[in-house]
Amino acid sequence: GCASGGANTETESSAGTLLRSAAKLPEPFTVPLPVPPVLRPVRPGHYEITQRAAEVEILPGLRTTVWGYDGIFPGPTIESRRGETTVVRHRNELGVPVVVHLHGGRTPPEHDGYPLDLVAPGAAREYVYPLDQPAATLWYHDHRADFTGPQVYRGLAGFHLVRDDEEDALPLPRGEREVPLMITDRSFAADGSFAYPSVDPSLLGQPGVTSEFVSGVLGDCILVNGAPWPVMEVDAARYRFRILNASNARRYRLALDPPGPGFTQIGGDQGLLAAPVRHERLQIAQAERYDVVIDFSAYSPGQEVTLVNRLGDGGTARVMRFVVTRRAPDDSAVPDRLADVRPLSRSDAVAEREFTFRRGGAEHHGMTLWTVNGMPFSADGVVAEPALGTVELWRLRAQNVPHPIHIHLAPFQVPGTAHGWKDTVDLGNGDQAEVLVRFEGYRGKYVLHCHNLEHEDMMMMANFVVR
Ligand code: C2O
Ligand code: CU
Repeated sequence: GCASGGANTETESSAGTLLRSAAKLPEPFTVPLPVPPVLRPVRPGHYEITQRAAEVEILPGLRTTVWGYDGIFPGPTIESRRGETTVVRHRNELGVPVVVHLHGGRTPPEHDGYPLDLVAPGAAREYVYPLDQPAATLWYHDHRADFTGPQVYRGLAGFHLVRDDEEDALPLPRGEREVPLMITDRSFAADGSFAYPSVDPSLLGQPGVTSEFVSGVLGDCILVNGAPWPVMEVDAARYRFRILNASNARRYRLALDPPGPGFTQIGGDQGLLAAPVRHERLQIAQAERYDVVIDFSAYSPGQEVTLVNRLGDGGTARVMRFVVTRRAPDDSAVPDRLADVRPLSRSDAVAEREFTFRRGGAEHHGMTLWTVNGMPFSADGVVAEPALGTVELWRLRAQNVPHPIHIHLAPFQVPGTAHGWKDTVDLGNGDQAEVLVRFEGYRGKYVLHCHNLEHEDMMMMANFVVR
């Protein structure tokens, strides 16, 4: 099983409030799995994305308006090489301000998507990503202060893959057998539109505005790459899946049914592991990534293999299905050594700090906010000033409900686990984790926050400044 500190007793209710769809949801495993298109550069290293509303068919026979990067959900996949600067020009044709954050990117502060660094409606701006970091499964998503939950829910999320020579030299599955899987949960109104309980968290607490969903919005329909409980035909061969949980508030415990050989994890949030790790189950919190290989040659042609969610119930207990079609040649392999990952030790840390994530300490219109060390997010507050080039030990504590904690810029290791470099760690209620954080690359102001997007919008975020 999975060794990371996780929310092992998690139930749907403790993560948020389930919103039931009024629309008719499809039979599971009838819609084919889509794969987001890879974005073509306008010239080498330069990309352009227009953020706009578009009507798409998610539920068969109904139209859903998404807010999409280039009008699609998930957005197009960007592929970059390590150390080659990628410039993405975003034009905002949505009627609201937006912010783009490259999650997991080691990015200068002015391009990191600080939550108040808005791109106004009708405006455009360039984000410059040096990507001086190992091959990894990154993703980009909206990060507008107070509105990240509703804006990501409407579709503003996409993959950004970083590749490098070390990874290319490995005989991992590739081409058609390397597939990104973005898992999200959504609920739908009767007309097929996305149902989100409050579009404006800043109104919470005012008359007639419900606060019932501030613990997190849970949908009853599971989408993979934007399709409801999809089905994918596979050869009886190895496949590499880059699994991302882009849900607002839902965490998953994934398993295969029938179990077969399970998942061989080759990478985590920030890139390849030193060596592969076998899992029967993968617990994946919001924003975490698991890069895995599944070997379908263990099944026979004709067999159906369902990706299930052991934390779900009814519809949310199912994610997608693979149908094994035929035996086929496979020259891929998972080597015993994958990448150089130098383990940090506590003695590398030059400072220790503690951050408690809980509900309380601050109020807004009579609503109790979600806070970091009792303080709600503010543009001026600074909770830590680590020095560039150092490692610090940060003790992260979760109270009230589970919280997945994400630190911008600085990758970290969780001592005693085999998950390599991470940027997001899941904490169960009452849990604490010690993480060894390496501050490298850039000086400036960044945020750490809970990646339950409703908690984040309700102020569970803080600034740190690398000096
Ligand atoms: Cu994925 Cu600060 O976010
Ligand atoms: Cu939280």
